[in-house]
Amino acid sequence: MDKRILKLARPYIYPKGIRDAVNVFKSGNLVQGKFVHEFEEGLKNYLGIKHAILLSSGTAALHLSLMAFDIKKGDEIIIPAFTYPAPANVVEISGAKPVFVDISPEDFCIDVSKIEEKITDRTKAIIVVHEFGQAAEISKIIKIADKHNLIVIEDAACALGTEFKGKKAGTFGNLGCFSFHPRKIITTGEGGVVASNNDELAARIRSLRNHGIAKKNSQYDFLLPGLNYRMTDFQAALGLSQLEKIEEITKRRIDIARFYDRELSSVEWITTPKRFPDREMVYQTYHILLDDKIDRDKLIMTLKKHGIETNLGAQALQCLTFYKKKYGFEEESFPNALRSYRSGLALPIYPQLTHKQLKRIVGSLQRSLDEFC
Ligand SMILES: Cc1ncc(COP(=O)(O)O)c(C=O)c1O
Repeated sequence: MDKRILKLARPYIYPKGIRDAVNVFKSGNLVQGKFVHEFEEGLKNYLGIKHAILLSSGTAALHLSLMAFDIKKGDEIIIPAFTYPAPANVVEISGAKPVFVDISPEDFCIDVSKIEEKITDRTKAIIVVHEFGQAAEISKIIKIADKHNLIVIEDAACALGTEFKGKKAGTFGNLGCFSFHPRKIITTGEGGVVASNNDELAARIRSLRNHGIAKKNSQYDFLLPGLNYRMTDFQAALGLSQLEKIEEITKRRIDIARFYDRELSSVEWITTPKRFPDREMVYQTYHILLDDKIDRDKLIMTLKKHGIETNLGAQALQCLTFYKKKYGFEEESFPNALRSYRSGLALPIYPQLTHKQLKRIVGSLQRSLDEFC
């Protein structure tokens, strides 16, 4: 039997990307060069958007999005209660208050029917997370935002290539934020990008990523208190080489998801991810829900012994020490987030997984569940 550890995710850097990165090292021009420009152009074309501003991480993308709108103390920002803590953390850092809304157990994204009851006269924005690479119900959210005059920031960290009614996630709201962390669809090690159709916002973010610098009357000046959130040119070379193969990468991820769907949908203790006719998911994470009877953490340990890495999918933010202490949340206040946090399981998914390895994962999972039940 193949005994190698099967990781949850494994980045694949194409030989062309490695060659280009080495050439960047040799050139001595390591930041903000030709590859940053070409990767930004490639992303604009791929997403069908006017501006793409490369940054040092997905968190930087979210942070600059809030800064671009001058979000500050006294403002409230709506966020799904089940996700990675990054969107909530940047809201805290801006001085504003994150207001959590429970998720729908159907798509693990914000429950649209629960948004309006959380809107107050302090609400400034909704951060919509396309969790695990599944599109949230973005059209309905945009309608709510328009009705209440709110900003929409899409956290598409996991959703590069995801579509809602044929349009790419991250291009519906005022700003779209993506991550290039190694667990994402394509990777630059660390990295991120903000996408926008708005010239003014894009110029602001471009300036904020680079200490607030901007050209005025053919001279550079510092017009805003910005940060250094730039991406290096060798990272952009790695990213560009993967972007050129993105159709192949996403197709393979979807094929793997279909395999898991076929093998696991009839297993008694497992709910596989729901498919929606008007949404195309890229499966950054293949996330199953286990029956309440199953001790998920014990299952993770058992699978680890079988050489298979799995993990929880995302956090219920109300359960995290900082948010619990600061806002006095009861864990049960967002029941769908809580259940997903306790019983969700992410399975390995990356293009290099072979059929034999997938069979091994499914077989181990089924045997472990049989032992448990
Ligand atoms: C939903 C979501 N938003 C934001 C981020 C932050 O991205 P990064 O790690 O590139 O800073 C992540 C990272 O996992 C994420 O899952």
